[in-house]
Amino acid sequence: MKEIFIRRSIRNYSEKRIENEKIDKLLRAAMQAPSAANQRPWEFIVVKDKNMLNKLSKTHAYSKMINNCAVCLVLSGNLKRMVFPEFWQQDMSAAAQNVLLEATHLGLGAVWIGVAPIEDRMEYLREILKLDVNIQPFCLIPLGYPENSENLFLDRYDSKRVRYIK
Ligand SMILES: Cc1cc2nc3c(=O)[nH]c(=O)nc-3n(C[C@H](O)[C@H](O)[C@H](O)COP(=O)(O)O)c2cc1C
Repeated sequence: MKEIFIRRSIRNYSEKRIENEKIDKLLRAAMQAPSAANQRPWEFIVVKDKNMLNKLSKTHAYSKMINNCAVCLVLSGNLKRMVFPEFWQQDMSAAAQNVLLEATHLGLGAVWIGVAPIEDRMEYLREILKLDVNIQPFCLIPLGYPENSENLFLDRYDSKRVRYIK
């Protein structure tokens, strides 16, 4: 699949707004992800409000680009939905990767901003977003039309990392 190979972390975005149809497609892609026992622990917050984007950009030292994105998705796990809580972060990772690949497919730029399991980052998001106690913030994904950067193939294949048993 082309998108797997050209996806890059995009941290510079144009002023252009993202169409609501595209946001809907990103959320649908996220919710198609596999999850342990099909528990689908995810919850999503779609942030467009400039004031909240500014607060999200202060989550940690490497989240500043959120201040300039068009939309930021907050991906969280809901403890109440977890049948196998030990797998929730793996479930959320699959959903996050789906968002990144769909964004690439739609001509958007995006980057995965790590939150869980770092407790102070999670706590900051719980506070500013007034999250319910059951909601575990997992990652942030700022999105926008790329500016001064693009999704481009970079060959990372390393045959030394592969062992065949024939
Ligand atoms: C778990 C995780 C956390 C990450 N956190 C950040 C982050 O906080 N800020 C950031 O700018 N990029 C973050 N990234 C993006 C990585 O820096 C990026 O994927 C890596 O450098 C490879 O570049 P590429 O995505 O363009 O292939 C994160 C990626 C992952 C998978």
